[in-house]
Amino acid sequence: MAILPPRLRRLAPDRLRDDPRLRALAVGLGAIPPRRMHSEQDMQVLLGCVSEAQRVVEVGVYEGASALLLCRTLPAHAELHLIDPFGAHPDALPAGWGATEWATRRTIARALSERGSQAVQVHWHVALSAPVASTWSQPLDAVFIDGDHSEAGCELDWCCWRGFVRPGGHVVFHDARADQPGGRGLPGPTAVVSRNFRQGKAPGWVIAAEADRTVAVCRST
Ligand SMILES: C[S@@+](CC[C@H](N)C(=O)[O-])C[C@H]1O[C@@H](n2cnc3c(N)ncnc32)[C@H](O)[C@@H]1O
Repeated sequence: MAILPPRLRRLAPDRLRDDPRLRALAVGLGAIPPRRMHSEQDMQVLLGCVSEAQRVVEVGVYEGASALLLCRTLPAHAELHLIDPFGAHPDALPAGWGATEWATRRTIARALSERGSQAVQVHWHVALSAPVASTWSQPLDAVFIDGDHSEAGCELDWCCWRGFVRPGGHVVFHDARADQPGGRGLPGPTAVVSRNFRQGKAPGWVIAAEADRTVAVCRST
């Protein structure tokens, strides 16, 4: 199905535009793109960390907009682990929003078919991130934390995943710059980034890049 022109989509009232079941159908069939949750600047920070990555985790996939860009940017055959329990999560999404596994999987499958034999290897984990981390063992080049946006949830993701990132690898936080001039974000991720990296509570990690709502930190040792 062809993508509906943005002009036409803008005519839909918010009630229709945000309806999870309608969105799932339209996104799954490819009639509308996954909802974009990030700016160009956000994506430059994220994609700048993964251009040579061989194994990446994304925590919080939603409709797949950022996963789509990762699928298009990661080197051929790199592993991309996508973690999301799907459904409604008040600490992760505005009230009434929620993504559907079926629709997001279809979006990602289309992105993989664009790259043919050069496609990345996607691994799905339909679960909360902490239980996935609790059975994890492989080294990672990058982790994108964009799931639970409460302070406790974001800190938990940081604590669960940081130990798997190899020296020189990155953790990227979205919605983490509400306290910076010109920056945007939410209180939870902003507090986690501020405490750990601006106030020096995470020795061995330094801020490598940041813009708009996104902060990338690099493991130096
Ligand atoms: C802001 S959206 C992710 C947006 C996506 N990264 C993008 O840019 O298109 C947050 C997602 O996190 C998921 N989520 C909430 N808590 C989570 C957790 N503990 N672990 C993994 N995913 C979680 C929600 O289901 C939701 O789909």
